[in-house]
Amino acid sequence: MESDSFCPGVSSRGAKRGRITIFIGTGGHMPGDDHPATHLQYLPSMTSDYSRISDTAKAIDPCIEPALLSYLASLPSSAAGKQPGSPFVIADYGAADGVNSSQLFERIIRFLRKKHPLMSIRLVYIDIADPAPFHHFWKGSGLSGLPRVEAEYFQRSFYDPLPDLAGSVDIGISSTSLHWLNTKTVDARFFHHPTLIQANQLPASERKKFVRKWIGDWRVFFRERSRDIAPEGMLYLATLTDLGGDRWPASAGYNNLRAVCVSLYQEGRISKQELDAIFIPDYFATPEEIASLVAEEGISQHFSLKSLKTLTVPCAYRCRMQDTGNDARKRQHLAYSLARVVRAWSESSIRVGLSPDHEDLIDEIYRRLAERFFERPEGLPYQYCLMEFLKRNIIPGD
Ligand SMILES: C[S@@+](CC[C@H](N)C(=O)[O-])C[C@H]1O[C@@H](n2cnc3c(N)ncnc32)[C@H](O)[C@@H]1O
Repeated sequence: MESDSFCPGVSSRGAKRGRITIFIGTGGHMPGDDHPATHLQYLPSMTSDYSRISDTAKAIDPCIEPALLSYLASLPSSAAGKQPGSPFVIADYGAADGVNSSQLFERIIRFLRKKHPLMSIRLVYIDIADPAPFHHFWKGSGLSGLPRVEAEYFQRSFYDPLPDLAGSVDIGISSTSLHWLNTKTVDARFFHHPTLIQANQLPASERKKFVRKWIGDWRVFFRERSRDIAPEGMLYLATLTDLGGDRWPASAGYNNLRAVCVSLYQEGRISKQELDAIFIPDYFATPEEIASLVAEEGISQHFSLKSLKTLTVPCAYRCRMQDTGNDARKRQHLAYSLARVVRAWSESSIRVGLSPDHEDLIDEIYRRLAERFFERPEGLPYQYCLMEFLKRNIIPGD
């Protein structure tokens, strides 16, 4: 396993509500206890400003590009091995609105076109999020202006089958998305916890059920990709990872968010039930857990692992915070920016935990978070595991 500190550039990463079970308040009376409170499915999607502020996720693209271009360079010149007339298909699993992968996709297309000027390209964006932000992006994007490039958005989970793609995807990419667990396959109570808000904060013994869930979810992810990706096609995953100790993505963001929620509980502003239900349904597997999983027969029979390496993307805001010296206004601006980044990926989960009449606390939570970042500046580096797979060409009867 290789490890890098970081290649170029640098910062980070919501809210759809599907009602599921009844949330019954018991014990001492607290605000939020007496609601016929409905319980919501955890459905992680980003806030609408995500792609404007997610510098860290964008910074990973230059690290992915060399592997993709060298894969493209290795393709046979007979129109990259495609049947005449069929497009070259690039799928983005967990694409959000498509903004963050757009420059990378443009460079891939320009590279391909040098060798195959007439080749048509189909871009497929897969995400559980509302398609409207994608359509907005696509209208004004440089990609939509390129000749013979078409795009489709599937509002679907990457854990669900995508029969429209069957065996057609030449390059599948997933960046900064696969840490989200499949929340549809368990009751929302699976994610309730009395003291912590994220699986990586838990001691090993309590983490087990999340690790088991992660393993099950990733097996499904690979099974589905084995159906989508064409023989000898490439699957490139840039996933967030836990490097041990506090070296797991945005740990300071999760820890401070938890402290803010505890303070609201101690002040009697939220109930114990709400505190328990505020949980971010993601898991950052360690590189060892990832390596062991992808070596399983069920996965390795379809995908050969070409490379696996880790790297840490430093926190852009932390560096800028250090440069502010005694300039309190600048520091405050950065503390609020950092809190917005945390809000982008945590707000949907916070909303699931809070009872409907506590929606007004959302702004309060992130104001308090910004204050904490202001008082005790902390960086939110993101640790990544980058993996390059080739789909095996399984010949029937082999
Ligand atoms: C942090 S964003 C990353 C977006 C983009 N790939 C990037 O690199 O900036 C994670 C995305 O994964 C999506 N997501 C989470 N769980 C998903 C699932 N099961 N299926 C499809 N998309 C999912 C979220 O809606 C969100 O848009």
